[in-house]
Amino acid sequence: MGSRLIIQGGVPLRGTLEASGAKNACLPIMAASILAQGEVELDRVPDISDVRVMAQILRQIGVQVDFDPLAGRMLLDSSQLKTTRAPEELVRRMNASFDVMGPLLARCGEGEVSMPGGCRLGPRPVNFHIEAFRKLGAEVKVEGGFVKAKSTGLVGGHILFPAVSVGATKNAMMAATMAKGTTILEGCAREPEISDLAHFLIKMGAKIEGIGTQTLRIEGVPRLHGAKHSVIADRIEGCTYLLGAVVTGGDITISNFKGAYSAALLEQLQAAGQEVEVGSDYVRVRGHRPILPLEITTAPYPGFPTDLHPQVVTMLTLAQGVSALAETIFDSRFMYVMELVRLGADLLASGKYVRIRGVDHLVGAPVDAPDIRAGGALVLAGLAAQGETVIRGVKYIDRGYQNLEAKLRSLGAKIERVERPLQELDQI
Ligand code: UD1
Repeated sequence: MGSRLIIQGGVPLRGTLEASGAKNACLPIMAASILAQGEVELDRVPDISDVRVMAQILRQIGVQVDFDPLAGRMLLDSSQLKTTRAPEELVRRMNASFDVMGPLLARCGEGEVSMPGGCRLGPRPVNFHIEAFRKLGAEVKVEGGFVKAKSTGLVGGHILFPAVSVGATKNAMMAATMAKGTTILEGCAREPEISDLAHFLIKMGAKIEGIGTQTLRIEGVPRLHGAKHSVIADRIEGCTYLLGAVVTGGDITISNFKGAYSAALLEQLQAAGQEVEVGSDYVRVRGHRPILPLEITTAPYPGFPTDLHPQVVTMLTLAQGVSALAETIFDSRFMYVMELVRLGADLLASGKYVRIRGVDHLVGAPVDAPDIRAGGALVLAGLAAQGETVIRGVKYIDRGYQNLEAKLRSLGAKIERVERPLQELDQI
């Protein structure tokens, strides 16, 4: 059995939605609860499978995790940690599992976390993380598929990241909160989710300066305590729905949403001739034809997010003219291209580039979601296309989009989820 999404496309989407809590903020914040001596209470926790996997990893480490998915509330208690080893079968399911390493090392003086390995976006090395732990005085080796780190007490250090990495910035920041003395991190990623993690760590008693800049200065403290925190809105999820207004010629508002964090996409939408209204706590997009072609290069924040690459390309398949996108973060983020071609898109991927020649319309077809954001892109394509689109690989979409069908239905979309037995051909 595999879940499928069935979409009858061509309905202009209209209405207001609230974005869920950000996956990429929530996962490291959950991991950071390992640092707390005391209870952590989180609000706006998205009910997505990645959050459930992180909860499971934490439970195996000995963190007590109580999750109320309907309320979006999670309680975490790390007073009874029982192991510093994070098992392979769970860690390999998502890259962000490696976020537990920094907190384990800081709180327990050691951590053994399975190598997260590659994924469908390409190789996902953790060498920057390992170098940062070493600079803080840890001994780190890779053995038997595990990264094993240990220290008799982390000490502050000066770390200059060789390239911008969200994961390495988070891990080094979490480890440094309890290192002796001052740590300077240079060349940091500046994503809003990293700032959210830093604000949470400060609520726990950490001393961090330079939040939102490339240089973080962290004064180590001997212990961190419990805290309450509400996770920021998911800008990638919210922007995926805003693109839904463009591809269907609709009108969508995302409430409780900070437009400034999504400026890179919103500027591109305006350049593409779309109507964008940014309020103090909402963003509204009204879709218009023609969609004008664009040239986009993905880059670390505040640049154009790689996590919106497949979705914006989907919009550009319907533009009047030729567009181009250069992917500079991941090596193989193009697996969605052939799926969009099945719907009639005119795309050519080569090296790190994709050329998009706009077509008048897409036509529904069966497609496979190869990863989370590609899944979001195929949903957008299905909503825009004439006729029926059947999307397989829904488990990837469920990793990052909470209540996707319900949210889209509230905007008028014709979308349903079916559990369908595999066709005979699928079983060969
Ligand atoms: C995070 C996000 C992911 C997003 C990505 C880039 C989470 C849970 N995931 O992933 O959704 O697409 O940022 O915005 O927040 N690299 C190395 N060595 C390292 C670490 C990274 O070479 O030790 C490379 C990676 O292969 C990649 C680039 O640096 O090419 C950026 O990776 P990074 O920013 O670390 O991404 P993630 O934290 O894995």
